[in-house]
Amino acid sequence: MRGCSISKEESSLVEGKSDTILEGKGICKGFPGVWEHLILDHIDIDVRAGEIHTLLGENGAGKTVIANCLSGFYMLSEGQIYVKGKPVTLKSPRDGIRHGIGMVHQELALVKPFTVAENIALGLPTSDLTFPLPEVEDRVRELSEKYKLYIDPLARVEDLSAGEQQRAEIIKVLYHDPEILILDEPTSLISADAEHLFEALNSMAEMGYGILFITHKIKEALEIGNRVTVLRLGKSMGTRETAKTDKTELVKLMFGEHTPAHLERKPVGSKRVVLEVRNLEALAADEEPALQGVSFSIREGEILGFAGVSGNGQSELAEVITGLRRATKGEVIIHGKDYTNHNPRDIIRAGVSHVPEKRREVGVIEPMTVAENVVLKDIRVSPFSKGSFVNISRVTAHAKEIVSRFGALVSDLWKSQTRILSGGNIQRLILGRETWRMPKCIVAVYPTQGLDAKAIDHTWELFMRLREAGSSILIVSEDLDEIMALSDRIAVMSNGRIVGMFEGSKANREEIGLMIATGASGSEHSQ
Ligand SMILES: Nc1ncnc2c1ncn2[C@@H]1O[C@H](COP(=O)(O)OP(=O)(O)OP(=O)(O)O)[C@@H](O)[C@H]1O
Ligand SMILES: [Mg+2]
Repeated sequence: MRGCSISKEESSLVEGKSDTILEGKGICKGFPGVWEHLILDHIDIDVRAGEIHTLLGENGAGKTVIANCLSGFYMLSEGQIYVKGKPVTLKSPRDGIRHGIGMVHQELALVKPFTVAENIALGLPTSDLTFPLPEVEDRVRELSEKYKLYIDPLARVEDLSAGEQQRAEIIKVLYHDPEILILDEPTSLISADAEHLFEALNSMAEMGYGILFITHKIKEALEIGNRVTVLRLGKSMGTRETAKTDKTELVKLMFGEHTPAHLERKPVGSKRVVLEVRNLEALAADEEPALQGVSFSIREGEILGFAGVSGNGQSELAEVITGLRRATKGEVIIHGKDYTNHNPRDIIRAGVSHVPEKRREVGVIEPMTVAENVVLKDIRVSPFSKGSFVNISRVTAHAKEIVSRFGALVSDLWKSQTRILSGGNIQRLILGRETWRMPKCIVAVYPTQGLDAKAIDHTWELFMRLREAGSSILIVSEDLDEIMALSDRIAVMSNGRIVGMFEGSKANREEIGLMIATGASGSEHSQ
């Protein structure tokens, strides 16, 4: 039994009556002026006490929308929610909390300059300047011990890694003593640390919580849940007991028929170096050293993959190369020319594309429309502008092309603000915008974050095509499968240094995994 105190026999005996704590019946949701169809179309879903119920679906399936409906962030267009068998109307997240429903959102949303405890105090109903912070701090320590979600209540959020911030978000929700916990894609930022989270969720299920766990990863659905419900384009494809289903069935439910891509790779032909980084040093937001003596080069048509747990300098490295963070020492050389500490515009002009880690904050300008975001970097140049005139029909045609090629779900190119798109759909737009000119160099940080299996295949194929066309590509990823599938060489980063460099073809998964886990230097270390 997957970490659940109620055996399947017991739970089938009660047939989801007495132990069902949250139920949604015939849930429909539409947004004014968006699509002709409903975003959620008559969904039935129930969560039982003591179970982890996984909600699985590809990008844009409606997972976040249903989670928002079940927790009070959105009002339903139709349908009914029941808590412990009683009908409830949730008009706000506060109503959700009052009924014991807590939601951990897909995107991290803590206030960066504040401490963990201050962030939690901010969310409390009695929050005012006199709120007894020490009480909150004690409670955070207690919760963090109880659920093994270790976090220092006095730590400033901006100093925390993505994994730690997420733990803080979970504690923030647990603070309200919920009985039902909804987690929206909690592993998309912490894939390397997912085991730890799974353990915590399993023990919560054992304590009797009902957990709705949202993911687009089939592997996770099979690993963690007791039951799994599959959503496709706003419709439920059915609920299965995890022990009685398998990958093949779930793939079919999610996508219809789909066969994963097979990647072909020719050896790197060219000796020309496109991107070179020499002895680079930089500071993190907390003024601590983030990069220490980092040196490497990437040739034309080569993919260098950076493996490692996030928070070891990868983000800062990408930021320094793309001009978003200052180097305190060392050089960034692009095509033989020194671009150290140049502004981002110069670096874009030098032919460097950037798929950033923070897609909503850095990747797009959220209040702008989809069309505006697609041409964000090209609006002043041909073919989109002539003199001071913008060629609107060219921009529209181009945006349409990117949206359809990358399968982004967008209702109106010129009316939809990018803010309302799902995370995976934003990622598709960014990938489209950053690759369509076949750039000389791409810095891609977690390029497939939030994408479903089919879109990941497309992205991997796209990177292979760009590689064949001569692009030099730097990829940062926590997903070792992705690094192994794409990279010609693999660098392992730990504590701001490159601790290992491997030939992709000879790379040994276990050895790399061990190096990531321990941060110890490997025998093949070379630059
Ligand atoms: N506030 C909104 N207004 C209009 N449309 C919306 C709004 N929120 C979401 N949508 C649309 O609803 C659909 C489902 O979005 P949702 O965010 O639930 O997808 P998801 O399954 O969570 O995808 P992902 O895996 O990418 O996070 C998308 O097409 C999205 O553009
Ligand atoms: Mg989502």
